[in-house]
Amino acid sequence: MDFTLRPLGTEDAESMWNLINEVKDEEKYLFHTLRFPKEGTARYIEAHNAAGNPVIGAFDAYGRLAGWADMNRGGFEEIAHTASLGMGVAKPFRGMGLGSLLLKACIDSARRQGIEKIELEVFASNAAARALYEKMGFVFEGCLKARRKFKGVYEDMICMGLFL
Ligand SMILES: CC(C)(COP(=O)(O)OP(=O)(O)OC[C@H]1O[C@@H](n2cnc3c(N)ncnc32)[C@H](O)[C@@H]1OP(=O)(O)O)[C@@H](O)C(=O)NCCC(=O)NCCS
Repeated sequence: MDFTLRPLGTEDAESMWNLINEVKDEEKYLFHTLRFPKEGTARYIEAHNAAGNPVIGAFDAYGRLAGWADMNRGGFEEIAHTASLGMGVAKPFRGMGLGSLLLKACIDSARRQGIEKIELEVFASNAAARALYEKMGFVFEGCLKARRKFKGVYEDMICMGLFL
């Protein structure tokens, strides 16, 4: 399947909001399940664009948003050389290479911005994401034991990093 990657604009806010919530509703992959206010998504996209650090979206042939990847650059001088990664692909589009395409685009964008290191956190049980990150060169940096307790189940959080 062919996908088009492009920076999101505020006109994509509703699609982005829906996609993030779809992934959150799976309750397994993203840090928390709380829904952000809808209006906040447009501001999030706008802030990334203003900082020259766009949210990258992947669209299918029908113009549906199938995945996203973004980086939050450190907000203080001392950590501005780093950025933390977030990403997700809608369930029907997983395993088709889209996560790899999005992550590669994000890494290229980070290099262009002069970011020196990308960091991320991933649940220990998230085998697909961990395999993707390792494939792209991220290495294990640590483990936050029992970082999450959701519906009575504890889960470790793995910290990974990639020096650019
Ligand atoms: C993690 C995620 C973004 C990967 O996206 P994707 O489009 O499925 O990834 P790709 O098809 O590009 O696969 C990339 C690599 O991941 C690994 N992978 C993919 N699916 C896998 C699975 N079900 N089990 C184990 N490894 C898997 C493989 O190493 C694959 O590389 P290969 O095809 O060269 O062997 C996607 O599964 C997703 O959105 N998951 C839910 C949200 C999420 O976990 N976000 C990240 C939170 S830290």
